[in-house]
Amino acid sequence: MKSRICGTGSALPGKEVTNDDLSKVLETSDEWIKSRTGICSRHLAVEETLTELTAEAAEKALQQAGIRPEELELIISATLSADKILPSLSCELQRELGAVNAAAFDINAACSGFLFALQTADAYIKSGQYQKILVTGGEILSKLMDWNDRSTCVLFGDGAGAVVVKADETDGILGSIQGSDGARGDVLSCENRRNNNPYTANEKALSYVYMNGQEVYKFAVRTVPKAICAAVEKAGFQIEEIDLFLIHQANIRIIEAVSKRLGVSMDKFPTNLQKCGNISAGSVPILLDYVNRKGMLHKGDKIVLAGFGAGLSWGASVLTW
Ligand code: UT7
Repeated sequence: MKSRICGTGSALPGKEVTNDDLSKVLETSDEWIKSRTGICSRHLAVEETLTELTAEAAEKALQQAGIRPEELELIISATLSADKILPSLSCELQRELGAVNAAAFDINAACSGFLFALQTADAYIKSGQYQKILVTGGEILSKLMDWNDRSTCVLFGDGAGAVVVKADETDGILGSIQGSDGARGDVLSCENRRNNNPYTANEKALSYVYMNGQEVYKFAVRTVPKAICAAVEKAGFQIEEIDLFLIHQANIRIIEAVSKRLGVSMDKFPTNLQKCGNISAGSVPILLDYVNRKGMLHKGDKIVLAGFGAGLSWGASVLTW
């Protein structure tokens, strides 16, 4: 049995912030951001919650799949920036959607989160436990940024994507790879709230996302091509047979380096980072929805999805559409 994506959806906050807008509040420039990353603008949540954005994305995916919320058996939400520590985003989503028959839990694998969640859904479907699963990926990363640190805050954006995954005899996920390297985790990190029980003396200020950009860059260009090759081989295909590569939208230079290392033209790497920035767990499902709704996916197409980021962590899946 295979896990087929039969519906996609996405939602971005209403406020679009261009590089020029940022240059009015930070010492940065459109030229620096665009030339180093390819990013031109991003959407930042002002009024919206992550639950609202994810519910909007999920409703679109369910509608496209022709599945009612009550038919869902499981909801897996990938995020590192849920609105609350408790309850989980997936439980909030279950309530919002009225998916009363679904179990729900969250996964935090940072920018690989959507891939890890999709692969978990695939394992449930292969085991025969569930047939209809909602998988989401989304973030409001702007609340975790230090808006005085121009080297990180200009890179990220907010938004959510969702897919409905169904058991299918013919098409779906054929091969997956995932990996982690916790020993190198300190190059991209963000501390949670600290212990403040009466026996501690904790006076440290709030923590924000810290990133050693160059180390993350090196990790990405070395690891992602290898992960993609391993997943493609597992699926029983050759790299040349793949129609589209949808990879985590962190930086256009990383995507260009991956395309070069794989010997595949950039035409097969659609991007939307120009208008979205890096949305961590939201980036791959939002891009997938974008290409799907543009009519770029055809039945039987061979597609690679890949994510990488904090942990360190990485994941790639190969599927037929
Ligand atoms: O989901 C995974 C997420 N992370 C990534 O994918 C990040 C991967 N890394 C990268 O994309 C790049 O390393 C960055 C885009 C983050 C940075 O590019 P870089 O070429 O590695 O720049 P850098 O950090 O070496 O900084 C170069 C200069 C520095 O100035 P000096 O020391 O040379 O005078 C920075 O202070 O650029 C300066 N700088 C900025 N200037 C204008 C850093 N941020 C900015 C900024 N605007 N926003």
